[in-house]
Amino acid sequence: MRLWHNPASPFVRKVRIVIRESHLQGIEEINTPVSPVNPHAELATKNPLVKIPALQMDDGAVLYDSSVICEYLDTLNPGPKLIPADGARWHALRLQSLCDGILDAAVLCRYEGAVRPEALRWQSWIDGQFVKIRNGLDALEREVASWGDTFQIGQIGAACVTGYLDFRFASEPWRESRPQLAAWHQRTLSRASVSATIPSA
Ligand code: BEZ
Repeated sequence: MRLWHNPASPFVRKVRIVIRESHLQGIEEINTPVSPVNPHAELATKNPLVKIPALQMDDGAVLYDSSVICEYLDTLNPGPKLIPADGARWHALRLQSLCDGILDAAVLCRYEGAVRPEALRWQSWIDGQFVKIRNGLDALEREVASWGDTFQIGQIGAACVTGYLDFRFASEPWRESRPQLAAWHQRTLSRASVSATIPSA
């Protein structure tokens, strides 16, 4: 299998943590520079949305987005499932969606600040994205105590959220009003899958 990835992407990180938590071997990682204004030609032949992550399976077919890839990889996972099949499934998928939504808003803000020419930036739009990010973090703070030691797809998403904020929005004081989430984030760093995938440029 081949994974088109970029070490800065929080959605790619979700997949890379799933690979490590599932002890899956032999997935080739293809480092792929991505930009919303300069689509990557080879990636476009794999994913018409020209987005990472994209995973080519052994039969040649390509899967996207990160949620579909994680669901597929979990079918190959010989150990305890990261996406539970019982009643816990919907709670896990809802938490994954919450984290994906926070990340969607954060990545849009990142592009706004790093790619869009300064004269074209729209502060009210950025503020609106940050409302989603902060509301989402508040929701994580309210529920993090109920997670215990569970580390399934929803918690993997949460680790990608807090890690991405530290990576791209270091001046955002997200820990200040969210002490339980901050302590949980710190604990996750002792997991090999999390420490091995800390985002980089
Ligand atoms: C980033 O550089 O922050 C980034 C890269 C790829 C996808 C999403 C974000």
